[in-house]
Amino acid sequence: MWRMPARPKPTGVNVPVVSVINYKGGVGKTTLTANLGAELAWRGRRVLLMDLDAQSSLTFSLVKPDDWRTRLATDKTILKWYESFRQGDPVPLKDLVLTPSSVGTRLALAKSGGQLDLIPSHLGLINVDLELATELGGASMKQAKHNYIRVHRRLADGLDDPHFSQYDVVLIDCPPNFNVVTKTAIVASDHVLIPAKADYLSTLGIDYLLRSLNELVSDYNEFASLESPGETASPPIGPQILGVVFTMLQIYGGRPISALRPYIAQTKRLGVTVFDSHMRENKTLFSDAPAYGVPVVLDGNSGAQHIVDELEALVTEFENRAGL
Ligand SMILES: Nc1ncnc2c1ncn2[C@@H]1O[C@H](COP(=O)(O)OP(=O)(O)OP(=O)(O)O)[C@@H](O)[C@H]1O
Ligand SMILES: [Mg+2]
Repeated sequence: MWRMPARPKPTGVNVPVVSVINYKGGVGKTTLTANLGAELAWRGRRVLLMDLDAQSSLTFSLVKPDDWRTRLATDKTILKWYESFRQGDPVPLKDLVLTPSSVGTRLALAKSGGQLDLIPSHLGLINVDLELATELGGASMKQAKHNYIRVHRRLADGLDDPHFSQYDVVLIDCPPNFNVVTKTAIVASDHVLIPAKADYLSTLGIDYLLRSLNELVSDYNEFASLESPGETASPPIGPQILGVVFTMLQIYGGRPISALRPYIAQTKRLGVTVFDSHMRENKTLFSDAPAYGVPVVLDGNSGAQHIVDELEALVTEFENRAGL
């Protein structure tokens, strides 16, 4: 069984953090993050979503593009936060949190006390990876290792703020790559959730992703052990793989069609947990939801009930696996 090393909590982050990651594009990361967050909030949890993808799909699934342009684009996105370090005047991460109104209105109907907040993204985030990469070097090996830790734990340090202890969980929607921004998310995370399609290339990709995660954790922990003790000491990290969630499955007779089953079996043989629940394919429902600003799981349309039931089962399994 493939497992990441167990570890104490990284830095002082005192809210469970889950990165939704797969460097294959278009596998349903954003759709899964939005639906998980919305259903957890419906159940009364206080959820913070963080959009770390320059494509900003999660942001535009919850905020209207006009609102984003007029109210957020200049200085209320995660881009501003990463850039503020370069300008030598870091802004607190909490200054970027907003409460999207479309979901908020829907959640009010639940009367459960849940909350769904968002730290939005920006198309300019694409350049931040290059800038962070330039901060990684150093005149000596010792300096380079120190810079590696300083840059990679930036998001963990940002979340290490009493403001965030009001949340029950932070869900990070990662971009489809394994660049530095993605790595900052993993370093800040207690858990990693991997959405995947059931096909040949996706199965290969999961194996490669697991190796990359392992490599990141082992490099980080080696360099962290060289940091001086005291205030700036960096505890080791060890995010746990919650499992693979199969997305966009074609279901027939209550189970994935036979063409997909070998890939599901092959993924299980990698030794990674595979969720019992899944997201089935439904282009109409899932493609339209972002335009309405309300994830499918909160859809009041009775025609969507079987999809909503499946999403609810998925969220229950997530809660159990993450120990929420
Ligand atoms: N279960 C589903 N059935 C049908 N279409 C889906 C489903 N889930 C997501 N989609 C659609 O597939 C596309 C990709 O989904 P999504 O944006 O969630 O993937 P992603 O992994 O976040 O992509 P990226 O790598 O670009 O960030 C979107 O158009 C979305 O509406
Ligand atoms: Mg996405």
